[in-house]
Amino acid sequence: MSDSWDEYAEEWDSNADVAEHSEKAFLSLKKFIKPEGLTVLDFGCGTGQLAQKIADTAASVVAVDTSPKMIDVLKAKKIPNITPMALDLSESSAKDNPAFRTGFDLIVASSVCAFLPDYGQALLDLKALLREGGTFVQWDWLRSTDEDDRGFTKEEIIEAYSNAGLSTVEVSEAFSIGSMQVLMGVATRA
Ligand SMILES: C[S@@+](CC[C@H](N)C(=O)[O-])C[C@H]1O[C@@H](n2cnc3c(N)ncnc32)[C@H](O)[C@@H]1O
Repeated sequence: MSDSWDEYAEEWDSNADVAEHSEKAFLSLKKFIKPEGLTVLDFGCGTGQLAQKIADTAASVVAVDTSPKMIDVLKAKKIPNITPMALDLSESSAKDNPAFRTGFDLIVASSVCAFLPDYGQALLDLKALLREGGTFVQWDWLRSTDEDDRGFTKEEIIEAYSNAGLSTVEVSEAFSIGSMQVLMGVATRA
């Protein structure tokens, strides 16, 4: 399991940009879907700032991250309807795990997908965990030039959803953090 994000875990919750990102992501999420009563997966949850907001009204949140130290910070918060798990999630690792058995109404991935070695495969794995009609939402930096190695273009996200068999609802510039634009991708499993 990768631990490259472990070194950020202790300071993550005192980073103002992280707090602003999770607040704005939550507000933009609620324009599309109300988490009330839903079963939710937060993929790449970090210390769970977005998961905490969703858990206020969701039925339950499974919060997964490959960084054990990020997950330790979330575990220490002891939020009753959040199940934190340090895990490298794939369709096969989820198959025998009871936490994933019933599938999810909503999967969120906040500032995660652009860091994955295989975004397309991750979308397939996540789609397999979505219930029929379920919604996938991601936020990533907007990549504005070919030289920029962060984030995605809108077209890349739309193409990836199509390749994974997800139906695009919208890919839009949802908010900014400083001078950086954040793209929000919303898709459903038909
Ligand atoms: C930029 S941080 C975002 C954390 C959190 N979503 C937030 O918005 O505060 C990226 C996170 O993705 C996690 N991550 C990277 N690759 C992952 C993977 N394959 N599966 C799950 N989490 C992953 C990292 O450990 C890290 O915590």
